[in-house]
Amino acid sequence: MTIDSLPGSSGYLDMYPERKMRYFKNPFVVGVTVVAGIGGLLFGYDTGVISGALLYIKDDFEAVNQSSFLQETIVSMALVGAIIGAAAGGWINDAYGRKKATLLADIIFALGSVVMAAAPDPYVLILGRLLVGLGVGVASVTAPVYIAEVSPSEIRGGLVSTNVLMITGGQFLSYLVNLAFTEVPGTWRWMLGAASVPAVIQFSLMLFLPESPRWLFIKDKKDEAVSVLSKIYDFPRLEDEIDYLNSQLEEERQKKKDVSYWDVFKTKEIRLAFIAGAGLQAFQQFTGINTVMYYSPTIVQMAGFKSNQLALLLSLIVAGMNAVGTILGIYLIDKAGRKKLALSSLAGVIVSLLILWGSFFAESSSSTSGLYGWLAVIGLMLYIAFFAPGMGPVPWTVNSEIYPEAYRGICGGMSATVNWVSNLIVAQTFLSVAEAVGTGTTFLILAGIAVIAFAFVVAFLPETKGLTFEEVESIWKEKAWGNGSNTQSLLESGNES
Ligand code: BGC
Repeated sequence: MTIDSLPGSSGYLDMYPERKMRYFKNPFVVGVTVVAGIGGLLFGYDTGVISGALLYIKDDFEAVNQSSFLQETIVSMALVGAIIGAAAGGWINDAYGRKKATLLADIIFALGSVVMAAAPDPYVLILGRLLVGLGVGVASVTAPVYIAEVSPSEIRGGLVSTNVLMITGGQFLSYLVNLAFTEVPGTWRWMLGAASVPAVIQFSLMLFLPESPRWLFIKDKKDEAVSVLSKIYDFPRLEDEIDYLNSQLEEERQKKKDVSYWDVFKTKEIRLAFIAGAGLQAFQQFTGINTVMYYSPTIVQMAGFKSNQLALLLSLIVAGMNAVGTILGIYLIDKAGRKKLALSSLAGVIVSLLILWGSFFAESSSSTSGLYGWLAVIGLMLYIAFFAPGMGPVPWTVNSEIYPEAYRGICGGMSATVNWVSNLIVAQTFLSVAEAVGTGTTFLILAGIAVIAFAFVVAFLPETKGLTFEEVESIWKEKAWGNGSNTQSLLESGNES
């Protein structure tokens, strides 16, 4: 078999269109995606639930009510945990596999939720937030990689983006749960403790699911790998996929017994991939998504609507639109491709941020509020409508597919760490920047960042739609070394060892 006729390359699937898979064709693949995606659900739930829960925590703990430092720490400790969890989770994924990483994340999630629900004081609560944050960090690396590795290449983008739908769905759900528990005694304890339920469910279901076939293969467990692949592909594609793994991964397995963080920076093709992946993650955050997700009620109030209820209702609508928009992303990502989707999403985000800037600017220099407030709400809605299908799912998808097998965990973990650090910076500074330079100008700054993000995607992101992992790898080798890339990179890895 020649490279052109290998599974996943468009040549192969054009030759055998009947072997192409559709999203819902294989219940096993969809099942694995949904179970792995519970990690995304917990990610969304645990980051979304706190804004509502905090209102009631303040009622119970006077110390929290008195101290904005304690409030900020309760909110951001989960992000600190996620930073550590993503960095360590990448390594755990490569060393122990995707399944053990998921099970570990669930144990930490469940423990953290119970600690929070039972917290006798704010400090135990902060410890619980750190624990669930660790779980979120590990899950944010593991779920996309695990899903990508069981996915047929032609629907990989949609399947990995399903995890992002679980994130946005989890955020929406957390707002609903917050509304549901407002009148129940114990309020915030239920809101925070509820997250242990999906963690226990995922843990139990995961025990019945197999390890990722690619990870098994690279760890020299070929028989197990083949038995998992046989659940994904029918004959004869199964046979072709096995041939493919044999020819491509064998080389990588021989070459890399030990992987280190340092190699990521030393090896040119991995470095290039990491720059693209981590850059995309940073831009996802610095274009301001979480100013909207965490502060949309505040933004609505800044725009002149003083009613709490209206603000909460609008933020529920924003979260709902975000989830619905992700479904559009699932549909488009394997059709339009990652790059086009990211670029059109960014173009829309830029226009929406300019509308937000304009409305706040006009509001501040006009005596009649109301009209411009509605313009700000429209800006907010447009922002979500454009962000959700593109810049939401594309960074997670790209990071699950652009690294060589032996580095997929480590690099995915490092770039997820970049995502969480950027998230923390934006969340911690948004309100004070808005206070210092004005809300309108803050949105103008975000629009400027989105313009840079657009140029970054044009310059650094290759299109990976439908490609097999090995084809993606050869793109980086070619970028790093031009033609004759294989010889060069072999020489380089020879020099390193
Ligand atoms: C981001 C999260 C964000 C969510 C909002 C995800 O892709 O990584 O930080 O809160 O989208 O929808």
